[in-house]
Amino acid sequence: MDLAEITDPERPYTRRSFTALFLEGRALVARRFVEAGLSVRLDKAGNLIGRIEGRDPSLGVIAIGSHSDTVPSGGRFDGIAGVATGLEIVRALRDAGTRLDHTLEVIDFLAEEPSEYGLSCVGSRGMTGSLDGRMLDLVEPGGEPLRDALGRVGGDPDRLGEAKRSDVRAFLELHIEQGIVLESQSLDIGVVSSIVGIRRIEIVFDGEADHAGTTPLHLRHDALVAAAQTVGLVRRVAEELDREGSDYFVATVGILTVEPSASNIVPGRCRLVIDARTTAPALTTRFVETVDRESKAAAARLRVRRSAFTTLSDGPPVACDPDLQTALRRAAEDLGLKQTDLPSGAGHDAAFMSRICRSAMVFVPCRAGKSHAPEEWADRDAVAAGAAVILQAVQALDRS
Ligand code: GLV
Ligand code: MN
Ligand code: MN
Ligand code: MN
Repeated sequence: MDLAEITDPERPYTRRSFTALFLEGRALVARRFVEAGLSVRLDKAGNLIGRIEGRDPSLGVIAIGSHSDTVPSGGRFDGIAGVATGLEIVRALRDAGTRLDHTLEVIDFLAEEPSEYGLSCVGSRGMTGSLDGRMLDLVEPGGEPLRDALGRVGGDPDRLGEAKRSDVRAFLELHIEQGIVLESQSLDIGVVSSIVGIRRIEIVFDGEADHAGTTPLHLRHDALVAAAQTVGLVRRVAEELDREGSDYFVATVGILTVEPSASNIVPGRCRLVIDARTTAPALTTRFVETVDRESKAAAARLRVRRSAFTTLSDGPPVACDPDLQTALRRAAEDLGLKQTDLPSGAGHDAAFMSRICRSAMVFVPCRAGKSHAPEEWADRDAVAAGAAVILQAVQALDRS
């Protein structure tokens, strides 16, 4: 709730990565880390890491974490609950006088939400060696490359290799469910089985800006009409693929910019970004082929140029670690909590962490399943129950 006060006052709750507000939020997180007895550092990928040494350094690290950045007009829990969970677990261990054999880290990953640079999970990509030069060259609308932004928030794009970890033995992330399965079935805990694969594609249509009163329809090169047909196409193809079988498929156009955006000008340029998610990457391949072909045809029909069709990022679906899932299930059972296994349709830092270590997640219920909106809410007791499950699993892992 303290972090939630660090928001754009016009658009609660907004704390976009790479902004001054984000850094202010991080300073608060860092202070809380220090107060809990953690040593604090920033790695070269811009991740904020709190650490408490274990009794046996040779065992490596158990890490807990998520992110403190938000989507525009987002909520107070997405990501934040996972960071707070790590912090609370450190406090609980300290209050109980317990020192683990493993070193424990609490991580606030940089820019988990898609940033203005078009990329999500910047910090967890960096920590797992998945942040490449092409991604660092992505540019936000104001012209700043991601490479510079990373340097600005304390990372170092030229020494990213140093952020890549090989000493993490397990990663655990608590997150609000962002869906209604748990709430509608009165369950306390979701043990996440898998995380969807996400591909993001940018399309640009270049037409010609013209007078909206004097240019006859048949002489126009209207970029927005081509973009609008593409939005309809994305929805239609996604519905077809989702209906086909048991695999999950959704696709969204969440960014659409129109230039010059005036009521009396025929739109000269449109940019849109598609976010396609699935449990079966073959569906995404077919989706992209169809959208590529048909959006090109729409452009030709409307006499505009499709000047970009670019993959911004492409992450495969990820299965959570079976042994960690078992540890989480056992912990929930010991604590007398009602649980189920469920897949995640949202992306998470855990999906990237699974590239370097065993990773798993706990979901807790959130009101009406609402997320990526200011109404996002999770009860304190619901988050506490999830944190207790992770604490117990951490202690079990530490002994095993
Ligand atoms: C992150 O919130 C995502 O699933 O896009
Ligand atoms: Mn999140
Ligand atoms: Mn999110
Ligand atoms: Mn997310």
